[in-house]
Amino acid sequence: MMLLQMTGLSGAGKTTISSHVKEHLQQLGYKVELLDGDIFRKTLCKDLGFSKEDRCENIRRMGFVADILTRNNIIVIIAAINPYEEIRRELQDKYGAKTIWVNCAIETLKHRDTKGLYRRAFLPEGHPEKINNLTGVNDVFEIPQNADLVLDTNQESIAQSVQKVIHFILQTL
Ligand code: ADX
Repeated sequence: MMLLQMTGLSGAGKTTISSHVKEHLQQLGYKVELLDGDIFRKTLCKDLGFSKEDRCENIRRMGFVADILTRNNIIVIIAAINPYEEIRRELQDKYGAKTIWVNCAIETLKHRDTKGLYRRAFLPEGHPEKINNLTGVNDVFEIPQNADLVLDTNQESIAQSVQKVIHFILQTL
């Protein structure tokens, strides 16, 4: 029915916004599924790491599952960092995915740091807890060049972002 790919750094709000959107749309009577990167990485994608190749394969698998669901009258939201244009475009071209960029300044993410990942990425080289490939700090996040919708969770409340997404979906359906 419709496929949305939320893209943005860890902690930007992809999962939170998507779950609220899902709830609202379900209340309106739509069938909705949320495919979350954290959950796929524990299950269908647990063999994958964080190289460019693995991140793209992660999204490719999510796209494959999403496509099956959308063909069954379900609105599907993929919530994953999804940092590369190449694979975002693949999902746009193959499945007509709409791209929503959940933008947020790195300073805000460092401050929120819900999973403690940013603290670890900024540790000195050689520290045992150091993360060397955290997206937005020491790994690539390619700015989406043709996003269908841009959210800025620095400026907007969760409720405002959720409303923007719902409005976008309802006018695009
Ligand atoms: S993606 O790049 O392949 O799209 P995905 O959204 O599935 O990433 O997974 C990101 C999640 O993995 C983060 O929310 C975080 O919990 C965890 N993670 C662990 N290490 C990293 C890392 N180096 N970079 C990004 N996320 C990481």
